[in-house]
Amino acid sequence: MEPQELVLLVVAVLCGSASGLPLNNRPIIGILSQELTDYMKDKFPGNYTSYIAASYVKYVEEAGARVVPIKINQTESYYESVIDTVNGVLFPGGAASFSASGGYADAAWKLYQRAVSKNNAGDYFPVWGTCLGFELLTYLATRQHNILTACDSENVALPLKFKLGYKNSRLYEDAPKKILNILASQNVTVNFHHFCVTETNLTAVGMDKDWNVTAVDSDSEGLEFVSSFEHKLHPFYGVQFHPEKNSFEWKATKYIPHTANAILVQQYFANFFVKEARKNHHQFPSQDDEEAALIYNYQPTYTGKNDSTFEQCYFFSD
Ligand SMILES: *[C@@H]1O[C@H](CO)[C@@H](O)[C@H](O)[C@H]1NC(C)=O
Ligand SMILES: *[C@@H]1O[C@H](CO)[C@@H](O)[C@H](O)[C@H]1NC(C)=O
Ligand SMILES: *[C@@H]1O[C@H](CO)[C@@H](O)[C@H](O)[C@H]1NC(C)=O
Ligand SMILES: *[C@@H]1O[C@H](CO)[C@@H](O)[C@H](O)[C@H]1NC(C)=O
Ligand SMILES: *[C@@H]1O[C@H](CO)[C@@H](O)[C@H](O)[C@H]1NC(C)=O
Ligand SMILES: *[C@@H]1O[C@H](CO)[C@@H](O)[C@H](O)[C@H]1NC(C)=O
Repeated sequence: MEPQELVLLVVAVLCGSASGLPLNNRPIIGILSQELTDYMKDKFPGNYTSYIAASYVKYVEEAGARVVPIKINQTESYYESVIDTVNGVLFPGGAASFSASGGYADAAWKLYQRAVSKNNAGDYFPVWGTCLGFELLTYLATRQHNILTACDSENVALPLKFKLGYKNSRLYEDAPKKILNILASQNVTVNFHHFCVTETNLTAVGMDKDWNVTAVDSDSEGLEFVSSFEHKLHPFYGVQFHPEKNSFEWKATKYIPHTANAILVQQYFANFFVKEARKNHHQFPSQDDEEAALIYNYQPTYTGKNDSTFEQCYFFSD
């Protein structure tokens, strides 16, 4: 091997993804919208069909990606083209029902099946679920079985209890020691859920064959629930807590940690997911198509001043 070739090889290894392709430094994340709650319909009349809390958009943007909103209640070919053009999908938290026809979980099912096929075909395609989106991943991974247990972990910030072997997980293996120490010892991960995924239930449906639980926590009654998990083969990740809230949600009655350490940890999760998305090379057929799809075509509404838990939301009518 010539010295030049050696240099090229080293450069390729340093800059390259697992596929050997250079990283995609213009990643785009699709964020799934969901049905409005009754409260939102009442407060923000406009016959909107779906919304995305802006904190999820900012969360992705702060890590160096752009956002395309994914609408609910669309055709199969719409979801196919979404998957073919974005570099990862994020399922946000919220309050949508999994059983609503044409809703959040229906759309997610169409996206998830395609994400699995892509990965099975060697096309690295990451998926992230937060809170309801994390619970949704269990629904999708079990082919639409509801394995959730009622629990109480509402408006509480907790440290994570890491599982044995968590340092071999993709999500935490490269995390700086400082981040892991903060996560393990400080109340930085904020929980807003009254359903939980228990390891017992996850194992009972065989989800443990394909997924590793990497951290747990306990609800107000001491029930242990899964806080983070990841697929063993595919770049699919879920967190029950809300990393996007630390930096971007400010409702005074919510105990959302805004300490410097909470923000550091929050940024770690955002950076991790976008780093995964840089390994994907999907793109829009043209710059015009990309521009037409980006979230910049929409203006967020300041919902926080009307008592919403979200400071800003994007509302969609189509
Ligand atoms: C919502 O749709 C109904 C029926 O089409 C219409 O009468 C009403 O004006 C719309 N409301 C708003 C706020 O656009
Ligand atoms: C889906 O669209 C149909 C008509 O286009 C509408 O009747 C239905 O309410 C919509 N469902 C949701 C969940 O938005
Ligand atoms: C989940 O676990 C709870 C006990 O924690 C049990 O009552 C419930 O039936 C389980 N649900 C499923 C679907 O396995
Ligand atoms: C899953 O857990 C097993 C056993 O601890 C470990 O060997 C493996 O590296 C883990 N994989 C991921 C992706 O977390
Ligand atoms: C975390 O919060 C709990 C109450 O939810 C409190 O008892 C505990 O002292 C806090 N821990 C730290 C390290 O601040
Ligand atoms: C939202 O809050 C602002 C300021 O308090 C008020 O002027 C406006 O009428 C409210 N809008 C709704 C839809 O409640």
